[in-house]
Amino acid sequence: MSGFSRTARKGRGVKRPALAVCVEDLNMLLEKVYMESGADFRSYKKASIARRVAKRLAMCRCASVAEYAAVLDKDPAEYDRLRSMLTIKVSEFFREPEVFEAVRDALAYVPGLSNGVRAWCCGCASGEEAYSIAILLAEAVSGEVAGNSVVFATDIDPEAIDRARMAEYREESLANVTSERRDRHFIMSSNVFWKVSQAIRSLVRFGTLDIVKGHPISKVHLLFCRNVFIYFNQELQKEVFNKLDYALRPGGLLVMGKAEQVPPGWAHRYHPIGRDLNVFRKNA
Ligand SMILES: C[S@@+](CC[C@H](N)C(=O)[O-])C[C@H]1O[C@@H](n2cnc3c(N)ncnc32)[C@H](O)[C@@H]1O
Repeated sequence: MSGFSRTARKGRGVKRPALAVCVEDLNMLLEKVYMESGADFRSYKKASIARRVAKRLAMCRCASVAEYAAVLDKDPAEYDRLRSMLTIKVSEFFREPEVFEAVRDALAYVPGLSNGVRAWCCGCASGEEAYSIAILLAEAVSGEVAGNSVVFATDIDPEAIDRARMAEYREESLANVTSERRDRHFIMSSNVFWKVSQAIRSLVRFGTLDIVKGHPISKVHLLFCRNVFIYFNQELQKEVFNKLDYALRPGGLLVMGKAEQVPPGWAHRYHPIGRDLNVFRKNA
């Protein structure tokens, strides 16, 4: 651990808070995490990762990255807790409802759906978005097509995937769900949680997948990858977009987060649908 500084650096700036963890220590820690656990956060945006590492250091009562590295050595399960801390899993059902409306309208023009829709929710957090896609499909296509459809839903965090499989959510997560939809697709469970109906759950297949290292799902008609790219640096955005492009069929729909962009090299093949929605149709 000799490469790490002995103490985390204090912020010096007035307007912009300086990193509590210096870049050199952060890089060494991320290298260690990669070497020991395989999780690769080296090309994530540094400022947000540094804030989260600093928070984890505080939770573990470590005064320096070197101290924290010793905790990792002593307790390898800490790698999982750190990975969970480094990924932000905020989500909700029908987040930005206008995006789902645009997707529903555009879906009618996607070629080759008669044998079922293959959708992929990449970076699905605890499942809210994946089940929203499944509800959308159940409502937008015929019963026969819906019956042959599948929503693959993947995330780097296995704990989030476990929660997604439970399919139980608090009222707040359903703020954008109309009462009609709620009554059709959810069941109140133990007076606290809304559980997604079996019919909708049967459309979704969850799995752990690190999109930075892993292989993409293939031949999908509809691909949601929202609020994942915001954490990647530009180089990593290009690498991962290559995988999304491989996954999506010609004429398929890509949905990105509102603060995200199709990297410049691909923009000519992805045509925006509506204004400021970040829903794109790939060239047929
Ligand atoms: C802010 S959430 C977005 C959830 C959902 N897509 C939405 O927009 O509501 C970002 C998700 O991306 C996941 N993520 C981050 N890095 C990832 C990676 N390399 N591979 C797969 N998922 C990743 C995180 O675990 C987290 O669940």
